[in-house]
Amino acid sequence: MTTQRYSLFDRIILNADQALRTVFGTPVGTGRPNPATATADAELSSTEKSASLCLMRVNHAGEVCAQALYQGQALTARRTETRTQMEQAALEENDHLAWCQQRVQELGGSTSLLNPLWYAGSLAIGAASGLIGDQWSLGFLAETEQQVVKHLDGHLQRLPSGDQRSKAILQQMKADEAEHRDSALRAGGRQLPETVRKLMALSSRVMTSTAYRI
Ligand SMILES: [Fe+2]
Ligand SMILES: [Fe+2]
Repeated sequence: MTTQRYSLFDRIILNADQALRTVFGTPVGTGRPNPATATADAELSSTEKSASLCLMRVNHAGEVCAQALYQGQALTARRTETRTQMEQAALEENDHLAWCQQRVQELGGSTSLLNPLWYAGSLAIGAASGLIGDQWSLGFLAETEQQVVKHLDGHLQRLPSGDQRSKAILQQMKADEAEHRDSALRAGGRQLPETVRKLMALSSRVMTSTAYRI
């Protein structure tokens, strides 16, 4: 990754391209295979399919948010190493985004209509936390990833037992999110005050319950 040579203006243009790809196009990831590919699809009833679809639409919307958070923070991060680390994580989040998108399509549904809104809101939050300073923005990332790990655990429990393909995707995502959390902490992320952590959990509940339906 050689983005340290880019000016702020270049990065804004690249970010606009990234935003359009995330919300409307094909995201560019690391090239890892979809974990569902090696997993046999079980026979799911129509009720099970629609339950899986709602959950995977939520996970797709969550990855849109993750992408925007990382891009927003990379835009305003002060240290080059912090920015590079965020861009690498954003590539892995793009894998997640593509895998969830593929699974939503396999289940015969569509992604959240509100994705542009999720992206814009998360980009603003990411850029704002990047402005506060690298240690706080890394702490914000670590907390976000920790909450995502917890959320994915809940979805792994809630998915229909036969939906092995969705589970394979979520298990790999969970491992990646835990690594993103750990690397943000290793890079100096600070623990956020409890009120901020509670507010973050509350806002993610608003997004997840909305994307479940729309
Ligand atoms: Fe992710
Ligand atoms: Fe992550």
